[in-house]
Amino acid sequence: MEAWIPLGYLLSAALFIFGLKKLGHPRTAPRGNQYGAMGMLVAVLTTIVDMQLASGGMNWELIIAGLVVGSVIGIIMAIKVEMTGMPELVALFNGFGGAASALVALSETWKYIEGSAVVPEGLTLQVIMLAAGLSALVGWMTLTGSILAMFKLKGGIEIFGKWFSTPTWGPSWLNPVKVLLTLSVLALIVMAIGEPTNTNYLWAIIGISCLLGIVLVLPIGGADMPVVVSLLNSLSGIAAAFTGFIISNPVLIVAGSLVGASGLILTFIMCKAMNRTLPDVLFKSFGGTTKETVTRTKVGSDPDEVAMMVDGAQKVIIVPGYGMAVSQCQHQVKEFGDLLEEKFDTEVKYAIHPVAGRMPGHMNVLLAEANVPYEQLIEMDEINPEFPECDVAVIIGANDTCNPAARTGEGPLAGMPIIDADQARTVVIIKRSLSVGYAGVDNDLFYMDKTMMLFGDGKAMMTGLNNAIKEI
Ligand code: TAP
Repeated sequence: MEAWIPLGYLLSAALFIFGLKKLGHPRTAPRGNQYGAMGMLVAVLTTIVDMQLASGGMNWELIIAGLVVGSVIGIIMAIKVEMTGMPELVALFNGFGGAASALVALSETWKYIEGSAVVPEGLTLQVIMLAAGLSALVGWMTLTGSILAMFKLKGGIEIFGKWFSTPTWGPSWLNPVKVLLTLSVLALIVMAIGEPTNTNYLWAIIGISCLLGIVLVLPIGGADMPVVVSLLNSLSGIAAAFTGFIISNPVLIVAGSLVGASGLILTFIMCKAMNRTLPDVLFKSFGGTTKETVTRTKVGSDPDEVAMMVDGAQKVIIVPGYGMAVSQCQHQVKEFGDLLEEKFDTEVKYAIHPVAGRMPGHMNVLLAEANVPYEQLIEMDEINPEFPECDVAVIIGANDTCNPAARTGEGPLAGMPIIDADQARTVVIIKRSLSVGYAGVDNDLFYMDKTMMLFGDGKAMMTGLNNAIKEI
């Protein structure tokens, strides 16, 4: 039986890697998800058998109770969560992942310190302490940082008062504090290695790491939030890898490293998409603490007027954003595209901004659900040169991702590459009001002469527009 254990670990690692590969394309992503889930099942079963063989008498009641409670909570949360609430859920899961790793590392290290378990062959208590310290630093920092990120994504909650209901709070003296806290934890880890039986160091590392998570995430806001969530995801993987080292579990090391590496790659992709560097995100407070007040006005259009205008358009580019996710109008958007193609022989494309919506790939997932062909979903860099030849850009619930304010050197959106919808001959924008987007910046595009505002809920407006087109 023991000979099968490494094979089980190898199989689960291979499933994780194949799963990740399949996640690279929307068409194969569901299969990738299934591979990942299967890999996790094989890893859990192999670990249970491994532990039974190694230590005998396992506390089965506790393990089964943990699996049942965890699965029930997971299923309920997955069923209940709205697509627009996914980033908050991901942030929360990142935090729990980091804390779980750090807790396991702590309990194992405790056994070695107490002498109730023997340090595995080839390791010393000092090496264990190094891994436990790093796991605690990354794991606890991920927990507190992720919980704060979740509240920020939710827009804060009242009981936490002003700090948590505003997007950012980052006076300049906070940066030296971050550096000081990081250095203190590293110094404490060195001290813990020198005196591995003194548990006070571990408690101090945990306390300061929790504080560090809060201090790191507190100043981050606005358009930088996707980057920080992705970074926290990567950190939760790194914490797991350190813990895998302590409990000598190869699959935890492999899975943790995969999450750490892929999360870091995603972080850099997001930074590139936002035209930011990681140090900028972490050390330059960004996003402002208040949303801009909208003072200008604009007369709205109606679906019949817009339908007459798109009649005869040779090329239409649809720009989806967060509002499409909120109103769940992706099916109506697909119908709109189909109607244009069938009735007016219009060329229809979809412009996808890398951070449109509230999670990576948010628009791709929704449009794939509505069966929009992948070939019509064009990434920002590729579609932008096509806007000057585009007759009508139809923006559905997008705001920041096509806000020309990003081209100026100031404000929360400064430097973020945007969809060049303002370069189309005519622009139609569907949203409920003139209000600001996630980053809180007023949008000049709404007030341009060539822009028609269709005020209302995305689904209602798209349905009205489709009906108007059918009647032409
Ligand atoms: P946003 O700038 O967030 O704007 C969305 C707009 O949708 C709002 O201005 C809102 O205007 C409109 N809206 C809301 N509900 C609607 C409904 N039912 N029907 C029609 N419109 C509705 O959207 P975006 O352009 O997609 O930009 C995304 C922003 O989120 C970026 O700043 C990005 O950095 C940030 N962010 C992204 C992510 C990821 S990874 N994608 C994660 C966290 C944060 P009204 O209220 O007037 O309707």
